[in-house]
Amino acid sequence: MANDTFLKACRREATDFTPVWLMRQAGRYMKEYMEIRKKHSFLEMCRTPEIACEVTLQPIRRFELDAAIIFADILLPLEGMGIGLEFAKNEGPVISNPVRETRDIDAIRIINPEEDVPYLLEAIRLVKKELDGKVPLIGFSGAPFTLASYIIEGGGSRNYIHTKALMFSDPGAWAALMEKISEILGRYLNAQVEAGAQVLQIFDSWVGCLGPDDYKRFVQPYTKKVIDSVGGRVPVINFSTNTGTYLELLAEAGGDVIGIDWRVRLDRAWERIGFERAIQGNFDPGILFGPVEGIRKRAKEIIDQAGGRPGHIFNLGHGIILGTPVENVQALVDSVHEFSRGETF
Ligand code: CP3
Repeated sequence: MANDTFLKACRREATDFTPVWLMRQAGRYMKEYMEIRKKHSFLEMCRTPEIACEVTLQPIRRFELDAAIIFADILLPLEGMGIGLEFAKNEGPVISNPVRETRDIDAIRIINPEEDVPYLLEAIRLVKKELDGKVPLIGFSGAPFTLASYIIEGGGSRNYIHTKALMFSDPGAWAALMEKISEILGRYLNAQVEAGAQVLQIFDSWVGCLGPDDYKRFVQPYTKKVIDSVGGRVPVINFSTNTGTYLELLAEAGGDVIGIDWRVRLDRAWERIGFERAIQGNFDPGILFGPVEGIRKRAKEIIDQAGGRPGHIFNLGHGIILGTPVENVQALVDSVHEFSRGETF
């Protein structure tokens, strides 16, 4: 591997500089992406291995990123589960038959990744060949809560009312659903490892709508189960947002790396998570809409908070926002390398 800095940081080994990659590094903020997107729907892009491979590599060619992430989506397992998914124009995901009651939960199929997402596994194999060891490849999935919230709500949500209604009115049905989803996610992630993914990230993007006690009771056992199912074969990044008040509980769920957002300071977060874990984050993607001097200053502040300790992976606190200036992304990636090189690790 020409650049194994990211893998080393996942294992908390010393590196010559801080590795950086960005959530949603492939996407509509890049004109190379839009060229292809004009001709294909998002799901078509995911389901065509050659296109998914090309789009995965676009940000790697343009910026000096230290990891690639497979172009896919947390909602790709839905089809195999028997849940209809569409991406409506400007509306995000729309699910035709949301899961609301026991009957719906019973009807969910446990996927077989080789049959249900063959295109994803093929895309991973293609990217690995094309990367030829340049940087490691990350596979990913949603975490049980975030995936459950989509299939219950039927799309994005503000208050997660249907999800919470099920959780609080029928804990048995909730447990049955989360068990099933955990089994599916375990299969989905392990298949990605078998196809060549070298690190996995689990996105719990929306779990921050829960308080600490409900996280612990209704979510943590299932996230733990998914992470345990990987069995240490590759490092796992446990990422969530809006969970700054219960980072300790996230760390208990597992993960070699804990991914945090910008609502907590990185130095304080690392103390609470414990220095025996690596940490990923936590630049506010909104700062990329400000001037380059500000971007550089704030990048340096995060690197300073990591304090030269091995095991910091620089990333945003959440995905790149549509409309982000490409030259600012470039400035961020370059400044992370510049400021972190030459420090004594
Ligand atoms: O990071 C990467 O570059 C890899 C690709 C990636 C995508 N989705 C591509 C995508 C990853 C890691 C995801 C994860 C994902 N998908 C999450 C968790 C991450 C997060 O942001 O919290 C969630 C919640 C989803 C579900 C999803 N997919 C939504 C809500 C949307 C619509 C949002 C939007 O911007 O329109 C998508 C679509 C999607 N996934 C796009 C991309 C590049 C935009 C598709 C397009 O119209 O071109």
